[in-house]
Amino acid sequence: MFDPYKIREDFPILKREINGHQLIYFDNAATSQKPRQVIEAIKEFYEKHNANVHRAVHTLSQEASELYEKAHEETAKFINANSMEEIIFLRGTTEAINLVAYSWGLRNLKREDEVLVTLMEHHSNIVPWEILAKIKGFKVKYVDINDDGTLNHDALENAISKKTKIICITHVSNVTGTINDIKRAAKTAHEHNALILVDGAQSAPHLPVDVKDLDVDFFTFSGHKMLAPTGIGALYAKREILVKMEPFHGGGEMIKEVAFNPIKRASVISWNELPWKFEAGTPNICGGVGLMAAIKYLETLGMENVEAHECRLTEYAIKRLHECRKVTVYGPENASKRCGIIPFNVEGFSSHDIALFLDNYGIMIRSGFHCAQPLHQRLKLPSSARASFYIYNTKEEIDKFIEALKEIEKS
Ligand SMILES: Cc1ncc(COP(=O)(O)O)c(C=O)c1O
Repeated sequence: MFDPYKIREDFPILKREINGHQLIYFDNAATSQKPRQVIEAIKEFYEKHNANVHRAVHTLSQEASELYEKAHEETAKFINANSMEEIIFLRGTTEAINLVAYSWGLRNLKREDEVLVTLMEHHSNIVPWEILAKIKGFKVKYVDINDDGTLNHDALENAISKKTKIICITHVSNVTGTINDIKRAAKTAHEHNALILVDGAQSAPHLPVDVKDLDVDFFTFSGHKMLAPTGIGALYAKREILVKMEPFHGGGEMIKEVAFNPIKRASVISWNELPWKFEAGTPNICGGVGLMAAIKYLETLGMENVEAHECRLTEYAIKRLHECRKVTVYGPENASKRCGIIPFNVEGFSSHDIALFLDNYGIMIRSGFHCAQPLHQRLKLPSSARASFYIYNTKEEIDKFIEALKEIEKS
């Protein structure tokens, strides 16, 4: 039985009071709170196993290496990758997309090529491509969306051509919560011999992800949005693509050999095995351990149950938001087409005013553009307030949120 009240007991921070009210944390799309199990895994790592990985023969280094490798294996299983060779640990989605842009894009994209992004992308799936386009001269083409924030598949199918080398698309919008039909987008990409990169920052924490079933070439996500600490996330890529890619960062750990030739006065360098070829330097070992604990926690709950809980909350919240006369909600009306993210505005108030007002009631929401300015421009929104839910949120909290919004309307 999925019981958010029982789950809440695992999250020490939820016991806090803010401005005299019980904390209501509705900013989960920005980052999630951390359960005791993750905090304890981190503590245990530093108290018992801390050492650098893959370097020394001593016991502690062996233990740390085993844990770090196990974390890759568990992450591979979580998204149904073939093996840990396809899982590269990085700081998060932003770094993962930059890795693809620089390792794959720098060498494979030419002046006459095109990269497709959608108008609903987070800046981290736009800016790396625009930076690279300035270096390489290719074009970044923007695919339109519908007025309710859903993807316009006709626009995607019309925009793709022989010139398209990669489609870069979010799985779930971090503003409207729209869930995109990635299988369909992947089919469209592959029919045109293009690759597909999926930004899974808002999907991996909230719904079951199967990269093989989706048939995506690259999939990125951030641990901190799914109960793990900040500074750890992953890039999945199909093995056959990673084998052909050159590394992003150079340094220790990612090489097999640096053989200095004293006659030529140059080094011949060979790369390490996957995935280490893409993890230069001392990695975020403890972050990996924390991510593994977070994945175990989510797997115990069951990702189908996580998704169903958030869907129920979203449906309920949208229904109750419609009671508020001055509130406008954006995104698809049908809760089954969206994750637990609800953008809205209150007539006569800026999004920051709404967020500050709610803070007085101990309710944490996000305001502004949420790193998705093109989406706000397309929907003609000056900015938006955003409530986003996770496993520990309850209908009772939504009721308090609605009561507070009704107070704003009166003020
Ligand atoms: C859809 C989406 N993509 C990318 C990111 C960037 O993630 P990070 O800051 O963890 O790299 C976010 C974070 O809000 C996001 O919501």
